[in-house]
This record gives sequence, C-alpha cells and structure tokens, in this order.
Amino acid sequence: MKRHLSLVLTFAAALSASATALAAMTPAQQALYNQYTAEAKAADPAFAGFSAGRGKAFFLDRHTGGKPDTPVCTECHTTDLTKMGKTRAGKDIEPMAPSVNPKRYTDKAEVEKWFKRNCNDVTGRECTLTEKGDVLTYLLGL
Ligand code: HEC
Repeated sequence: MKRHLSLVLTFAAALSASATALAAMTPAQQALYNQYTAEAKAADPAFAGFSAGRGKAFFLDRHTGGKPDTPVCTECHTTDLTKMGKTRAGKDIEPMAPSVNPKRYTDKAEVEKWFKRNCNDVTGRECTLTEKGDVLTYLLGL
C-alpha cells in the first residue's frame, strides 16, 4: 500500500510538472500540440521535447534571407502578443496570445499554412518541425 501510494504521488508530481507548460490549453490546442510532439518523436526517437525558450528567441530574433521589410515575426504580430497586429498592407491581425484569443492554434492546416508563408517571408525558407514546435510551445504559454 505504501509503495502504491508513493507511485501515485510520483505520477501526480510528474503530471503537475508537465501541466505547468500546458496549463491553459483548450482540448483542440492540446490535440494540435500532441500532433506536433508525435511527429517530432516519430522523426527522432531521442526527441527531448520542444522548448518555449528557443521558440521565444526564434520569434523575437531578427533573421536574414527573407523579405527585407519583414526580418522578424514581430514586424506583423508586434512584441505584445496580447494585442492586435498588422500586416504590411495595414490589415488587422488578431492577437496571438491564446489567453486573449482562444481560437488560436486549433487547426493544423491553418497553422501549417501560416508557418509556411510567414517563415518564408522572415527567413527565406520553411521552418523546421523543431522550430514550429518550439514557437507553438512559446505561443501556447502566452
Ligand atoms: C508579413 C506579416 C507577418 C509576419 C512577418 C509574420 N506573420 Fe504570422 N501571421 C500573419 C497573418 C496575416 C496571419 C493570419 C491571420 C491570423 O491568423 O490572424 C498569421 C498567422 C500566424 C500563425 C497561425 C496562428 C493560428 O491561429 O493558427 C502562426 C503560427 C504564425 N503566424 C506564426 C508566425 C511566425 C513564427 C512568424 C515569424 C517567423 C510570423 N508569424 C511572422 C502575418 C505575419
């Protein structure tokens, strides 16, 4: 019984540790996140998890190789991701932070479409699976 209890406690501690990063996710966001994680594990059995820190750096860093007027993701999404962004043409972009915009990151096709376009604009190439997973991990925590 004692041993059983300590196993349960260990499991609960592990669950709450992983829940910190995933705290506010809706079921649809969780499903999308799980899909990226599963793909990363399939591509690399030693996959050790996405990194919000790496994702944040990728999102905030200036890149080269893309379009000269959009060297950084924040050019359109701004640095306050709880606020509206703007396209180059001046069209509004809804906030990226799911805490204020829970419709974000719920549709894989939509997410992939914009990663493809935005990564090409900013870096001149498509983002890798790791880059996309890292950025999503960062954004889902906002
Ligand atoms: C030229 C302007 C522009 C730049 C630069 C830009 N984005 Fe976007 N992004 C958009 C627009 C427009 C949308 C689609 C409209 C929307 O979702 O509100 C979008 C949507 C997204 C989405 C989809 C969100 C969802 O709800 O599914 C992701 C993810 C994303 N961008 C990531 C990035 C990343 C990462 C970068 C930097 C590599 C970046 N964006 C740079 C304009 C931009």
